[in-house]
Amino acid sequence: MTGEDLDKYCAAHEQRFTDELIDFLRIPSISADPEHAADVRRNAEYLRDALLQAGFQRAELVETSGHPSVYAERMVDRSKPTALVYGHHDVQPVDPLDEWVSPPFEPAVRDGNLHARGAVDDKGQVWMHLKAVQAHVETRGELPLNLKLIVEGEEESGSVHFEELVVAERERLQADVLVVSDTGVLAPDLPSLCTGLRGLAAVEVTVHGPSLDLHSGVFGGAVMNPIAALARIIAGLHDPVTGRVTVPGFYDDVRPLNQEDRELLARVPYDESEFLAEAGGISATAGEEGFTVLERRSVRPTLELNGVWGGYSGPGTKTIIPASASAKITCRLVPDQLPDDIARTVAAAIHDAAPRGVRVETQIQHGGRPVLTPVQHPAVQAAARAMAQVFGKEPLFTREGGSIPPVESFSRVMGMPAVLVGVGLPDDRIHAPNEKFNLAMYQRGIRVLAHLWDELAPALSAAS
Ligand code: BES
Ligand code: MN
Ligand code: MN
Repeated sequence: MTGEDLDKYCAAHEQRFTDELIDFLRIPSISADPEHAADVRRNAEYLRDALLQAGFQRAELVETSGHPSVYAERMVDRSKPTALVYGHHDVQPVDPLDEWVSPPFEPAVRDGNLHARGAVDDKGQVWMHLKAVQAHVETRGELPLNLKLIVEGEEESGSVHFEELVVAERERLQADVLVVSDTGVLAPDLPSLCTGLRGLAAVEVTVHGPSLDLHSGVFGGAVMNPIAALARIIAGLHDPVTGRVTVPGFYDDVRPLNQEDRELLARVPYDESEFLAEAGGISATAGEEGFTVLERRSVRPTLELNGVWGGYSGPGTKTIIPASASAKITCRLVPDQLPDDIARTVAAAIHDAAPRGVRVETQIQHGGRPVLTPVQHPAVQAAARAMAQVFGKEPLFTREGGSIPPVESFSRVMGMPAVLVGVGLPDDRIHAPNEKFNLAMYQRGIRVLAHLWDELAPALSAAS
């Protein structure tokens, strides 16, 4: 079977597929905001009901000590291979709200794009999976393999309870391969398959000075200012000439890129002015000497400052030496760096850099390990064929800079390789105002996933 039947079904139902996604996107499932906890639950329940309608035989909420996940399955035949789909039904917060052209939870179509929070990250891409299953069930009556699905409700707030769920549910979640649609392609006419994701390590630092804000005239000149101390510390974390992270040992566990990795990445076209525009109109790129822009943002580790605060920032002047100053730092990790090790070395470097007269406090936050699937893996090759069938072009292989910590939990806890089949676009503005999902990509994504099950079933049977 070539999948023409699936394509035909999808083409006939495009409008319905879009309308359904619009309804799903109306639920404000912001996991980071406790005020939206009931919405996240309602979102999970909505998804459960839709999974049953799409052709899953079972679908239910799985409780965690945080927001609920949703589990579903359609078991066809024990002798056939099994795939597990992972996704997330929660979304990022929406601020700054006044920059949205249309409200984040009133989905609106403009120029072929569906605008809403969660449109592409990740509710829209989860919905593609429902529609791909429906296409199989309604055209042929059955899927060519067993399919399980777990969609979590806390990815955007760190998946803090998800590994517990994976461990507790490992029997039920067992599968031959993990399929995740939460990444992107290079461009509409440049299909690509992501084979790796970076990990994450997070550290928060507070510099404590005097026990109270001091008059900067009375004490200034003789007291170490916590903001100045913090600025000195964080400025020292990068080498201004080479762009490298100065933390001792930071690069020790980085696995060198092999020739094939570099060659695959070198095939990806790069347009500097396009990149500068996508990066919000900056005037020049920055980063680590000796690596291309693509390498810097996908296969090299980084240290970023995400927030810094302290002292007075209201109107006018307030002449103080503040009692404290703080910063939030996250590092993106590559194989074989470990989140705890990196967070500890960064914290140690911060303590070492503290000037006299202040006290530095660091706090290590939840992180995640990097993900890497070999390009040669039969499941990756099956996904490449599915993409080629739908895009009419062989996909390139990329590694992406973002992180999806649970994906690595599956490979470590259950030994499952991950196939990352996402169809977002670089200008989708994920996590930002006016997030969108290009509707042509949405429809293609549904077909890619429908074709994927046809390609994956024989590939996994042959491999076992
Ligand atoms: N879907 C993204 C990750 C992503 C984005 C992968 C673009 C590849 C390309 C995911 O929802 C996300 O935002 N992850 C967070 C993880 C964090 C909250 C622990 C990230 O990467 O910052
Ligand atoms: Mn996501
Ligand atoms: Mn996200």
